[in-house]
Amino acid sequence: MDFVDQLKSQVRIEDVVGEYVKLRKSGPSRYMGLCPFHNEKTPSFTVHVVHQFYKCFSCGAGGDVVKFVMEKEGLSFWEALKQLAERYGIPLPKRSQYSDEDSRQRGSAFEMHEMAQEAFRANLESAAGETARAYLARRGVTPETIAQFGLGYAERSGQALVRMFGKRNFPSAQMEQSGLVGKRDDGSFYDRFRNRLMFPIHNESGKVIGFGGRALAADDTPKYLNSPETAIYKKSQVLYNLHRAKETIRKQDRVILVEGYMDAIGVTAAGVANVVASCGTSLTAPQVQAMKRHSARIAVNFDPDAPGANAAERSIGLLLEEGMQVRIVELDGGLDPDEYCRDRGAAAYQQRLDEAKGYFYWLADRARAKHDVRSSEGVVAVLNALLPAVEKVTDPLQRSAIANDLASYIGVPQGMVLDSFRKTAASRQEKPMERPKIALRHDERLLLNAILADEDVGKEIVGQLQQSDAVAGFASRRVFQAALSLVSAGGRLSFENLHARLEEADQNLLAEAVLEGEPEVTPGAVAAAMESIRRSQERGLRDQIKARIREAERGGNWEEALRLAAELEGSDRAARGRG
Ligand code: CTP
Ligand code: MN
Repeated sequence: MDFVDQLKSQVRIEDVVGEYVKLRKSGPSRYMGLCPFHNEKTPSFTVHVVHQFYKCFSCGAGGDVVKFVMEKEGLSFWEALKQLAERYGIPLPKRSQYSDEDSRQRGSAFEMHEMAQEAFRANLESAAGETARAYLARRGVTPETIAQFGLGYAERSGQALVRMFGKRNFPSAQMEQSGLVGKRDDGSFYDRFRNRLMFPIHNESGKVIGFGGRALAADDTPKYLNSPETAIYKKSQVLYNLHRAKETIRKQDRVILVEGYMDAIGVTAAGVANVVASCGTSLTAPQVQAMKRHSARIAVNFDPDAPGANAAERSIGLLLEEGMQVRIVELDGGLDPDEYCRDRGAAAYQQRLDEAKGYFYWLADRARAKHDVRSSEGVVAVLNALLPAVEKVTDPLQRSAIANDLASYIGVPQGMVLDSFRKTAASRQEKPMERPKIALRHDERLLLNAILADEDVGKEIVGQLQQSDAVAGFASRRVFQAALSLVSAGGRLSFENLHARLEEADQNLLAEAVLEGEPEVTPGAVAAAMESIRRSQERGLRDQIKARIREAERGGNWEEALRLAAELEGSDRAARGRG
């Protein structure tokens, strides 16, 4: 067994995929969830634990566990192997070093970030970190929290990382591309972060991919200096703290979204661990999808000032479009989440979370503050302000529930709200999930499952089918033909081997055959399927004879017609004899 096979046999695909996708068991050897490769509201993403593959019937993504990690993390083949091996404690063979230029680049960027993170952390504990430590202490950040979030300090010289990377012989181009080091016009290099409090930013699998650096003095600008976009840091895809929070997000089935690094840290320190931060940039669809893989219920807790409220209002549209259930947390006293937790305590914050309003109440409040709902013009203005958000709710039941609530909330007849919703409802209909319509018969589906369930039985079936020409009439004929050539070439009859020999359309068909319904493969069921195939073949033969009889009669060829009729009767008798 080569290393790849060995790794695949030791890693459970449902565990790996399960780190990114909320999976639900949907059959004896299947799990389903929302596809992580495209945006969907109804699950069409399936994982088969015996045949060890995943497949999305909506966008077509599919493959084995290594491919999943490659695509999800944007890694090369070797990088994905390496990551899986490290994650599951499987020793890597020596030769599997990074192979191509691109993955070497990314590999060294990861390494440099790890080194930088370690250096920043050590700085914070050293004499040079005193001011930064005092700053954190003043803001009530405990040593435990500092350790938990890997906070650090970038010292003043501006040469520490440059020297460290130089000593480790990283080529200067790689240093620059890591985003940690800048280049002056005269060609010399300097550390991007100097005299700043450092917040490491991780990808979903917990690797450091970038940093946010906070100024320590009030007059130092910018307040935050962040890593630029690099080969390993794609800002629109990353949420701060997601790798730590995802476990709790799933358990509590709710994610809390805040704006700042310090908010995520303060809220976590208050014992609320299911929090992520968007980091000042406006929320993107990939970020929402990343949250939704863990929970579809979100509580948005942006800063209480006008920019925060505007950002919250903008994010509502996107969240609804992506099918999230949205609540808005309101904090009194003009405090941001971090300040609130510190000033009012964990219990008070928890209470604000518990009483978070559905987004439409929050929007209604905002609209009501601007318009007078005692006048009919005011009511219309409020409804108009709410419509864009409500329109994005695709579930008609949910929408009519909202209309009901909203009517009583702003004090107008329910019919009035429903009317204005209905006008826009017609224009918006969700596209149904596209699932390939493949006409697989029950018997051929069962045989496909049977040949993959057990090698010996598989060979036997393939051999028998080879004798007859029944296969020629199957939608899955090319799959059976591939199985036959696999067996005659002495190959092992496995899902993977078979899959590898097929064109894409037939790969989909094979996946569909083993995923749909999971027929129970018993000797009795196999025999019945073989018999059903034999019968349908016989039926086909008789239909052919009948057609030839009609043709002979039309042509006045009575002798031939009689001969065929006798043949037909013989085959009918044989069929009846078998029962
Ligand atoms: N931000 C940024 N660049 C800035 C200001 C803010 O990237 N010049 C991002 C940071 O990710 C920051 C977030 O926007 O965490 C929210 O900004 P703010 O509320 O100002 O920061 P806090 O995290 O609350 O930090 P602090 O409490 O220290 O002010
Ligand atoms: Mn703050």
